[in-house]
Amino acid sequence: MNTRALPITERDGCQDPVLLNDWHVVGFSTDFEPGKLYPLTLLERDLIVWRDTHGAVHVWEDLCIHRGARLSKGWVQDDQVVCPYHGWRYNTQGRCTLMPAAPDETPMKKAMAFTYKVVERYGFVWMSLGEPSHDIPVFPEWDDADFIKVHSGPYIYEANGYRSVENFIDATHFPFVHAGLNGVTDNPDRLLPYSVELTPTGLKSSEVRVFQPQGDFRGIPVVAFYTYHAFRPLVAYFSKRTQDADAQGNPVTDKSNLFTTFFTVQAVNDKQSIVRICAALDIKPAPDAEQTRKRADVVFNQDREIVETQRPERIPVELRYELHHRTDLMGQRYRSWLRDLGVTYGVY
Ligand code: FES
Ligand SMILES: [Fe+2]
Repeated sequence: MNTRALPITERDGCQDPVLLNDWHVVGFSTDFEPGKLYPLTLLERDLIVWRDTHGAVHVWEDLCIHRGARLSKGWVQDDQVVCPYHGWRYNTQGRCTLMPAAPDETPMKKAMAFTYKVVERYGFVWMSLGEPSHDIPVFPEWDDADFIKVHSGPYIYEANGYRSVENFIDATHFPFVHAGLNGVTDNPDRLLPYSVELTPTGLKSSEVRVFQPQGDFRGIPVVAFYTYHAFRPLVAYFSKRTQDADAQGNPVTDKSNLFTTFFTVQAVNDKQSIVRICAALDIKPAPDAEQTRKRADVVFNQDREIVETQRPERIPVELRYELHHRTDLMGQRYRSWLRDLGVTYGVY
């Protein structure tokens, strides 16, 4: 049983155990330099992140247990966080080491910062507000040296996190939202039936075939076969196998390239999310990281603009509230899966 003291502010904001006991990306590893405090919000909870001089990252509630001042307004001194109100100091364990008004006294046992689990993986900082019963999802290409990794984002969507994920696992918007890049408006792909199965690592689709006039950083036409995977409510992935094609969409080679994308969402609240991604590419000749990142900026900003228009902001998980077609199978299953997992926060 978790007997750790909980912050009083925990009573506000998200109460959904599915999300509280999950891992969430709250930044890129490179975002956090030693010696500084970084405020952020996850699921309506105000937090601070800081890195100590040994390289360890800490995520705490943005709250001093003494009188509730925001630690983010304080500073880091000698690997300790100093509260800006009465100067209490907290070490890397979150333990108060000094109350300046009573410097000779040992601070009481309860004088602790509210600390959370944190792990760095795939160039992201992951944290949990609770007790996750599962590990962080596996990014299959991360340890494969044949793949070049390119991070991009953050993309701030003024939109619900699940709406952002659903957009990421949707193949029928390409000709309209990404016209000229991932699809052709005047000649949209006819989607052949595909399947979606529930696996131990989440929902996974079979391959979905589309034509892309500029399918990657090379700016050449490809036939793309997408396999979508929703690992967690706010973490998804696709693996895109491509074959170079002519302008009509006929493959000109048997050789496949692989382009995968690991997609993470920080749900700031139920109507704002921060998307961070990492692409992994095994394409010859080797991809240019900067061009790949620039292309991701274009594509994800196009997505952001449309997702921000969706109403209601909270995603409906009862299928009767919107209209579903067989070509939306992945999104449809995603919504039902959220409902089956018992997700209650941010859904309609
Ligand atoms: S509120 Fe932080 S030291 Fe008093
Ligand atoms: Fe898109």
